[in-house]
Amino acid sequence: MTPALDELVAWLGRWSAGRGPMYLLLAARVRQLIDEGLLPPGAPLPPDRRLATALSVGRTTVVAAYDTLRQEGRLVRRQGSGTRVAPAALAPPGPRVVETSNPMFLHLLEPSDDVILLSCAAPPSPPALVAESYARIVLPTDDLGYHPAGLPVLRAAVARRYEARGVPTGPEQILVTTGAQQGIGLLTRLLVAPGDAVLVEAPTYPGALDLFREAAAVPRPVPVGPAGLDVAAAVGVLERHRPALAYVVPHLHNPTGTVLPPLLGRRLVEAAEAYGVPLVEDEVLSELRFDGDAVPPLSSYGREVIGVGSLSKCVWGGLRTGWVRGPAPLIARLARLKALHDLGSDVPGQLVAARLFDSFAPLLRARVAELRAGHDLLRAELARRLPSWECPPAAGGQTLWVRLPYGDGVSFAQLALRHGVAVLPGSTMDALGGSTRMLRLHFLLAPGTLTEAVRRLASAWAEYVPGTGPGPGGTALNAITV
Ligand SMILES: Cc1ncc(COP(=O)(O)O)c(C=O)c1O
Repeated sequence: MTPALDELVAWLGRWSAGRGPMYLLLAARVRQLIDEGLLPPGAPLPPDRRLATALSVGRTTVVAAYDTLRQEGRLVRRQGSGTRVAPAALAPPGPRVVETSNPMFLHLLEPSDDVILLSCAAPPSPPALVAESYARIVLPTDDLGYHPAGLPVLRAAVARRYEARGVPTGPEQILVTTGAQQGIGLLTRLLVAPGDAVLVEAPTYPGALDLFREAAAVPRPVPVGPAGLDVAAAVGVLERHRPALAYVVPHLHNPTGTVLPPLLGRRLVEAAEAYGVPLVEDEVLSELRFDGDAVPPLSSYGREVIGVGSLSKCVWGGLRTGWVRGPAPLIARLARLKALHDLGSDVPGQLVAARLFDSFAPLLRARVAELRAGHDLLRAELARRLPSWECPPAAGGQTLWVRLPYGDGVSFAQLALRHGVAVLPGSTMDALGGSTRMLRLHFLLAPGTLTEAVRRLASAWAEYVPGTGPGPGGTALNAITV
């Protein structure tokens, strides 16, 4: 298994945190990746200069790190064939590496007190109502506690929420999941076999890309521009490739914040139905619009559309409460699959979630007001300290999609990390291998922290010397373009 350069940089993560010379810190992290099996025997490593550019360090740092590991016998360096992990004569053939390399997840796995995370976009703390609701729930007295399809009271509450948004829905059409992430994962397991095509937007939510990669699917990316998904291109992909699944975030798209106009949404739904392709609409962000009327979900245009939602962004990610909405027979199959995986989600959390739906409108209003304030503050701070960065306003959601005037997101993110702020490089979200100059920044932090984060970004930018950059094709996925 040969990691792409972007993927290796992501695995290296916060390698430079710690005391001591940079080359020793880098050698220590590469050694760890070898020991954990992410870099198996024989795996080639990037040339010194390319890795140095991607890490925003001098070439001598990489050369010294490689030499240290060569002297330990962990790397071999040969003229002409580059640097590789040393072969292990008796090493068993390792399993296919499917763990995530996405910085969004890796920053959660390796949190650090002194780094401001602008990479993982989610409310930083639960509203007071969440703790109050936990204090008020009453646990059932005669109940095993295993509900693979979800507690009836919560399935009914989610169904009512769809009804309120104009989409007739019965509780049998709802599967409760542990976050939307599990919903997308279960759908992928059920519908996608290795080698199947999956239509994705480029860029898109990286957590979904990783799930498709885990399933050994072949992504068929369709570009998203300032006006949302290129629906004509998407229809072409549906027609030509008949993907096993189409995954879209049409309203308040992650990461661009765009909103797909209703007419185009209807066209997409009609095409998916005509070609018999299951269309999954990720609705996790879709109610976080700052102004204007709510956009109807794609499920209002076709009965077969599968919705995936959660309370993570409107209320709090720690609830881990999500759902899938779809035709009842599909939901029944998904419930059998969920039973296999976890026998059902946590019951107290579901009781709390059901109560929260009673106060959903005020919770949502408060969240949107906070988001709008954060959005305006982040844009103002960026305009003040980093005027050369292009930061168009978002229609809602949690993030800005920012274009650097030069350089590339991966190497700048490395430098920013050393200045104490974690950002998500655009290329980690783009299966077309594009978005290399883009960064995704969220605005969910307290005003003082957000201001400090931009100050740190500005000090990193003042030091940034772009190299040639990792360039296109460095994504974690072997995408086939449309
Ligand atoms: C578009 C999108 N879908 C799904 C998820 C996963 O959310 P959850 O916390 O509900 O699993 C996220 C989280 O960031 C997201 O942005």
